[in-house]
Amino acid sequence: MAYPLLPLIFSTLFLPMLAFAQRNGNVTVGAVLTATDTATPWLSPSSDFAFGFQKIRNKDTFLLSIWYYRIPDRTIVWYANEGTAVPRDSKVELTAERGLVLSDPQGEELWNSESIVDVVANGFMNDTGNFVLVRADSAKLWESFKNPSDTILPAQVMEIGGELYSRQAEANFSKGRFQLRLLNDGNLVLNTRNVPSDMAYDAYYISGTYDESNSSNSGNQVIFNETGHMYILRRNGKTFDLTPQVIPSASENYYRATLNFDGVFAIYYYRKIFTSVQNWTEVWTKPDNICLDIRGYEGSGACGYNSVCTLGESRRPICECPQGFSLLDPTDTYGSCKPESTQACAADESTSAEDLYGFVDLTDTDWPLSDYEQLRPYSEEDCRKSCLQDCFCAVAIYRGDSCWKKKLPLSNGRKDRSVNGKTFLKFRKGDLPPQPPPKFQGSKKDQGSLILVGSVLLGSSVFVNFVFIAAACLGFFLIYNKKLIRPSPSNNVVGDNLRCFTYKELVEATNGFKEELGRGAFGTVYKGTMQLVSRNIVAVKRLGNVVQDGDKEFKTEVNVIAQTHHKNLVRLLGFCNEADQRLLVYEYMSNGSVAGFLFGDTKPSWDQRTHIALGIARGLSYLHEECSTQIIHCDIKPQNILLDDYYSARISDFGMAKLLMINQSRTNTAIRGTKGYVAPEWFRNTPVTVKVDVYSFGVLLLEITCCRRCVGDLEMAEEKAILTDWVWDCFREGRLDALVENDEQALNDWEKFKRFVMVGIWCVQEDPSLRPAMKKIIQMLEGVVEVAVPPCPFPNFNSTYG
Ligand SMILES: *[C@@H]1O[C@H](CO)[C@@H](O)[C@H](O)[C@H]1NC(C)=O
Ligand SMILES: *[C@@H]1O[C@H](CO)[C@@H](O)[C@H](O)[C@H]1NC(C)=O
Ligand SMILES: *[C@@H]1O[C@H](CO)[C@@H](O)[C@H](O)[C@H]1NC(C)=O
Ligand SMILES: *[C@@H]1O[C@H](CO)[C@@H](O)[C@H](O)[C@H]1NC(C)=O
Ligand SMILES: *[C@@H]1O[C@H](CO)[C@@H](O)[C@H](O)[C@H]1NC(C)=O
Ligand SMILES: *[C@@H]1O[C@H](CO)[C@@H](O)[C@H](O)[C@H]1NC(C)=O
Repeated sequence: MAYPLLPLIFSTLFLPMLAFAQRNGNVTVGAVLTATDTATPWLSPSSDFAFGFQKIRNKDTFLLSIWYYRIPDRTIVWYANEGTAVPRDSKVELTAERGLVLSDPQGEELWNSESIVDVVANGFMNDTGNFVLVRADSAKLWESFKNPSDTILPAQVMEIGGELYSRQAEANFSKGRFQLRLLNDGNLVLNTRNVPSDMAYDAYYISGTYDESNSSNSGNQVIFNETGHMYILRRNGKTFDLTPQVIPSASENYYRATLNFDGVFAIYYYRKIFTSVQNWTEVWTKPDNICLDIRGYEGSGACGYNSVCTLGESRRPICECPQGFSLLDPTDTYGSCKPESTQACAADESTSAEDLYGFVDLTDTDWPLSDYEQLRPYSEEDCRKSCLQDCFCAVAIYRGDSCWKKKLPLSNGRKDRSVNGKTFLKFRKGDLPPQPPPKFQGSKKDQGSLILVGSVLLGSSVFVNFVFIAAACLGFFLIYNKKLIRPSPSNNVVGDNLRCFTYKELVEATNGFKEELGRGAFGTVYKGTMQLVSRNIVAVKRLGNVVQDGDKEFKTEVNVIAQTHHKNLVRLLGFCNEADQRLLVYEYMSNGSVAGFLFGDTKPSWDQRTHIALGIARGLSYLHEECSTQIIHCDIKPQNILLDDYYSARISDFGMAKLLMINQSRTNTAIRGTKGYVAPEWFRNTPVTVKVDVYSFGVLLLEITCCRRCVGDLEMAEEKAILTDWVWDCFREGRLDALVENDEQALNDWEKFKRFVMVGIWCVQEDPSLRPAMKKIIQMLEGVVEVAVPPCPFPNFNSTYG
């Protein structure tokens, strides 16, 4: 092997000799490299990087690539020929007319550095890791930085339209299933794709750097600068930071940002002092939980079809086939799983379904997008029976009083502690008895114990988790002395990257609860500063005495909230539960609440308003219909909708009313919600459902549309005082323009404006069953489905504002 195992010795001993072969990174036209074990690559002046053929482990093929030359594992940062390795004795030549040309031993051309319509003077392997072809006047004709593979290096810039492709597998460099792209609209996204057609599926990370109301605010470049910071540069020169503020020193570390083959985009550093065996250490990763964040209807999810994803170390996914399934390609542990037996729907009268099939009970496992039937109300026994006798049914989930039947192929499989139901996986008896799940195949080497802890966490019930979290968190703290202050744990991360903070840490972060951001029914919110992976300004909510015996409620609530991720929800980062101190730590929202924005001094534009309304609708739809534990918010109002850096709506305070909903009798509980936004059924003896949120949303939608409060002040004319009444009057009398008198933008966007008003009227129907579901509301707001003419919202009028 020609490559150095001890680069330090290598560089001191052999470098002078190499300097003859190739001077100071400069490569002359006509230079040729041959793919052999002993060929010397083209080195950068500092010999940090090499360009040449790297032998693929255990194979007699070579990859034309650029790699970190001084790092023992020769980390590859760029590759040619779409990642396809070439046979021994293939050649790459630097030509004047066509740049780099790669050909096989027979001389057949395999790849070249695109069409160069100029004359190349020389090539240059820069110390930044960029291989460039330059013209005589030093103009750059081609750069590896402009044609990235799966990695970006410091000093590299990604322009609009730029993309990275993941590899197929750790050691297969062909284009894989994941992409990182900077879209034309300025958003940086991660998405899965269809491999043969290259069609992009739904994004699972969106930077949010697209501003539909002011394009100068949208992203323009992704910059990874020399000091290891990655940020999006907006058209107006402002920046959007991706990396945390504190980064290990750039002079002492190498950096790379790689879209890993499993879809996790991460930034890593590596200390330049080669004293001992060491690794690339990660500083930042996206998405937060790839198992849960990929949720598109198309594609198989983070793992292959029928597979189940669990989050391992460093937020990297682990894929496993469930019992009764095995890997389609035994070498691809992240790929699809095939059922070991197939069910045929042919009539088979001789044997009953009971004799043929049985169930394996799985814990906390879900394939959320594979439903084809929901049965309700239904008993568990009927659910099992129904799946057993249904030849289409592969899995059934029983939760609450509902039975969901799922069909093959199952997609987006994940371990999710908040499934809160029973999962029955059907298998054919008589075939081999279902195998115990294979060992965690995705894991590398000796990470066993940590993963085991993770899997215990993932595999156990919600209750056990909490015992675990509580133990991890408070542990001996409670058992011994309450006054004992534990040194602040630097990395006390519990499940889903939810952090457990000590009270002391939060006192320090908020500077003794100095800066108040707001007050609500559940407590007061303070601004805080702390060093977290992704951000350093947080909002700390100090809960008042919610309930006497609130420990269990608090834990349940935190667990549910922590499972809830959506771009229109405020994200929970951590919590503190120490003696009688209960605090929640959230993302900080820089632009305040919708109330402040809407009713403040300057009137927001129509476009901003519609953007916000749609955001709220999407967030609510997620809470109602998409997250694994349905959440009814119960207090939707403009004060509870916050605005992020891009003025996108983020719903806050969700999950707070959760325990109340479990106990559906409202005899001993106060009415939740806020005057003016409260649905009429709160005052009646009818069940409280998600439709109470739809009502509140309707009031809010009308407020946003008309840009005024739902109950006017004293100076307002009486007929206008109650917004819902006034909107209905205007609608009935065909003078909707009165609602937005001086708002030219809204008037010019008449169809949309009318649609929004009509949807608002549908939402505030007194009869909950007439109010549409949030999903339908989104479609109506977007104009995808027609909005029917709404009936009078209060047919048997009695005031809802009691
Ligand atoms: C590389 O070599 C060419 C031709 O010998 C020379 O003109 C150029 O200045 C050299 N560049 C560097 C950076 O040494
Ligand atoms: C090499 O990289 C440095 C730093 O980005 C840059 O200033 C220099 O122009 C590059 N050299 C060539 C030949 O591209
Ligand atoms: C890499 O993966 C692709 C797609 O699965 C496959 O066609 C190719 O043969 C693999 N290459 C190697 C070297 O295993
Ligand atoms: C867009 O934002 C920039 C500042 O970021 C501001 O100067 C400009 O006036 C804005 N344009 C519009 C149309 O609002
Ligand atoms: C890189 O970006 C960070 C954050 O924007 C900045 O503080 C630093 O000065 C930049 N470094 C260089 C070399 O431009
Ligand atoms: C390198 O990684 C392995 C496994 O991820 C870990 O056990 C080991 O401690 C790491 N070594 C260093 C020096 O960080």
